[in-house]
Amino acid sequence: MTTATYAARRARLAEHLGAQGLALLPTAPEQQRNRDADFPYRFDSYFHYLCGFSEPGAWLLITGSGRSILFCQPKDLEREIWDGYRLGPDAAPAALGVDEAYPLSELDARVSTLLDGCEAVWYPFATHQGLESRVQGWLQPLRDRVRYGALCPGAQRDLCEPLDEMRLIKDAHEQNTMRRAGQISAGAHIRAMQTSARMLRAGQEVREYHLEAELLHEFRRHGAQAPAYTSIVAAGANACVLHYRADTALVRPGQLVLIDAGCELDGYASDITRTFPANGRFTGPQRTLYDLVLASQEAAVAATRPGARFTDPHDAAVAVLAQGMLDVGLLDKNKVGGLHDVIEKRAYFQFYMHRTGHWLGRDVHDCGAYTEPSEIGDASTRLDALTGQTIVSRPARILREGMVLTIEPGIYVRPAPGVPAHFHDIGIRIEDDALVTAQGCELMSRGVPVQADAIEALMKD
Ligand code: GLY
Ligand code: MN
Ligand code: MN
Repeated sequence: MTTATYAARRARLAEHLGAQGLALLPTAPEQQRNRDADFPYRFDSYFHYLCGFSEPGAWLLITGSGRSILFCQPKDLEREIWDGYRLGPDAAPAALGVDEAYPLSELDARVSTLLDGCEAVWYPFATHQGLESRVQGWLQPLRDRVRYGALCPGAQRDLCEPLDEMRLIKDAHEQNTMRRAGQISAGAHIRAMQTSARMLRAGQEVREYHLEAELLHEFRRHGAQAPAYTSIVAAGANACVLHYRADTALVRPGQLVLIDAGCELDGYASDITRTFPANGRFTGPQRTLYDLVLASQEAAVAATRPGARFTDPHDAAVAVLAQGMLDVGLLDKNKVGGLHDVIEKRAYFQFYMHRTGHWLGRDVHDCGAYTEPSEIGDASTRLDALTGQTIVSRPARILREGMVLTIEPGIYVRPAPGVPAHFHDIGIRIEDDALVTAQGCELMSRGVPVQADAIEALMKD
């Protein structure tokens, strides 16, 4: 991405700040993992969206007049020998296109000066530990000096509000990066599927971590910086644990394997789930449930288009899943009633207990309001049939071109009285990444197939 792209984003944001507004935005801190070992560094998503700078120890300030000021770590030969290259404030304006840059040590003094006379100070609420008190610490001396003519900002505003709206619509650069991330992740899923079948055919022991290693290999081989989230590689019954991590369990012929994994490429996540037979052949009951989940995903994909609500794909998937659960005997209509009752009373929840998607972007669960901003006042309440709790419903977000969301229905069958034994311990999810387009949506993750026959075919080779 060019510096002009970031400059255009900063200019758009400045329009929201008011002429006398000032935005303060730190990047993410470094995090210690354990003694002398840090977690791999990951910049803050908002910060990077606005300047593309990936070093720790940095702040970005943007004034309502559109001036951008970066604070960063100074050049320091000794620290650079240990920790690596630093851009430094002298080189930052030319490299990043910001207007000014200073060493981090000057942040406090310069922020105090800039805040004097501001009408509103903008910073991200409830996202950075200690940020609120840091801002209060800057405002306090100003408040103390009002007797001498200082002007303390009269408003504090949440910087996430305008930034979330901007990030919700992905521009052409972002769409291209996300497409590429989807392609890399799709290749990684294919590699894991084929490795599973090949190793089992060769009589080798396969464990979940073997398949995780294939994913990582493929991500890094193509230049992706990291997994976008901890990979789930779940064999057999482990797939019914929604937040399972790849572990040491054996992957056995006859089992399904659920892999939920996606790479992060240049700050953008992909998020793909595929469920496949460990040895490349679905059993009858596995295929029955697989085709049901796939049909529900197809219904959700068809409901993903501009003008639809964010909840429409979920409702479409639930309708198919609920009917299917009745048809295949997971739910007993003598006990739970017909389709309408299953949905009304949320009886399907026993086997499908999560939502069908979320925004996807720089963060795997990306920012962006899930309610329609123009209809925020139209709240209603209803009693949830399953929990008896009062639920506040607000009109769901209307989908627009450029939004990216996942579509990820599933079925998870834990053994329970009345649940047919041949379905026990089957967990299936199919997840794709959908870019809302003028016509409907583009699935950016379909480099790995979803049809059961196609999966069996690619696992044969
Ligand atoms: N992999 C995280 C999710 O699907 O939400
Ligand atoms: Mn997801
Ligand atoms: Mn996922």
